[in-house]
Amino acid sequence: MVVVFLLILINRITTLWFNQPQFCPTVEWSRDAITFVNTSTAGISEGDIFIDANNTIYIAVSQKKQILIWHENTTYPMIIGRDDWSLIFSIFVPNTSEIYISFSDSKIIKWMASTNTFVNITHFQQPCRDIFIDIENHLYCSLYNLAVVVKTSVNGKTPMMIMAGITNIAGSTPDKLYGPSGIFVDRNLDLYVADTWNNRVQLFSSGKNIGKTVAGQSSSDITIALKRPHSTALDADKYLFISDNGNNRIVASGPNGFRCLLGCNGMGKQPHQLNHPMAISFDVHKNVFVYDAANKRFQKFDLQIYSCQNVPVTTRILSYILPS
Ligand SMILES: *[C@@H]1O[C@H](CO)[C@@H](O)[C@H](O)[C@H]1NC(C)=O
Ligand SMILES: *[C@@H]1O[C@H](CO)[C@@H](O)[C@H](O)[C@H]1NC(C)=O
Ligand SMILES: *[C@@H]1O[C@H](CO)[C@@H](O)[C@H](O)[C@H]1NC(C)=O
Ligand SMILES: *[C@@H]1O[C@H](CO)[C@@H](O)[C@H](O)[C@H]1NC(C)=O
Ligand SMILES: *[C@@H]1O[C@H](CO)[C@@H](O)[C@H](O)[C@H]1NC(C)=O
Repeated sequence: MVVVFLLILINRITTLWFNQPQFCPTVEWSRDAITFVNTSTAGISEGDIFIDANNTIYIAVSQKKQILIWHENTTYPMIIGRDDWSLIFSIFVPNTSEIYISFSDSKIIKWMASTNTFVNITHFQQPCRDIFIDIENHLYCSLYNLAVVVKTSVNGKTPMMIMAGITNIAGSTPDKLYGPSGIFVDRNLDLYVADTWNNRVQLFSSGKNIGKTVAGQSSSDITIALKRPHSTALDADKYLFISDNGNNRIVASGPNGFRCLLGCNGMGKQPHQLNHPMAISFDVHKNVFVYDAANKRFQKFDLQIYSCQNVPVTTRILSYILPS
């Protein structure tokens, strides 16, 4: 009874605003992807994807200066956008009412669903390669060119605070970053950064400005070599999913360490291949969506439901209850 209650409770928390699924150790996805958005729409190699807990899919396509929104089971997307937009680097959707958008001209604006209007939030010194809103309503921004990750409030009004790295001093020591791109802030306010040019993913535990390498050759743990990682996402057990951009694949950690998950047969444009993947997102059904940037398409890899069939349920319940 208690276990069931806990599971329901945890499940509620995990499905707050985007999907952080839990996977069994043997989970697999289809080798071949389905193209969800193709070249004629995706065009330029800049864009992003976000899938919320209601399975609404938001895809930013810079070429069209648009964000396409598919509500579950709908064929045609709702479209928002403006002709004077510059390239869209990142989107974040904290709830159905708003979409935060980061542009190549350093601006952050938000779209308000209720009025279908755009509001200027802030203007950084440099573009935010990625944006993320944590559970305490702070807006994080990775300033790729300045080698730092900063945060402000969601209205952009509180002074900018440096969360990781040293402004304008790129480096590979634990206090520095070199081309921070994808960011992820978990429920404990721990910050994960794809530290692109250092070929690693850094974890800055809440309140710490010294990072620990959690993926990439320089990690002291058993790891996997990365080449210019672009995005990171965490599942419910805090296992990492990384778009290993320069190696044209998606890798992930799990109870048995890191492994290559998707695009593991080298760069290319076949359905089982990727070319410089960027954003990663999970839908409600645990399928993985990948922005396959240089192929100018958004790919969907289906969960192989049978890959988890023989895993005893008890181990999965235990991993919920034991503190990590
Ligand atoms: C899902 O939809 C419901 C009903 O429309 C809404 O109340 C809720 O905020 C939505 N959740 C998310 C994460 O968008
Ligand atoms: C690309 O996608 C659009 C919109 O879904 C569709 O109309 C078009 O036929 C597709 N093109 C190709 C080559 O598949
Ligand atoms: C979408 O379709 C599936 C399968 O038909 C159904 O179970 C689900 O409830 C539908 N979702 C919505 C929001 O209508
Ligand atoms: C939506 O999320 C934003 C940012 O976290 C927050 O400021 C706003 O109050 C939320 N709106 C609703 C209706 O929950
Ligand atoms: C937002 O910024 C743009 C230019 O950056 C300006 O033209 C527009 O008037 C601003 N909108 C508001 C509501 O301040």
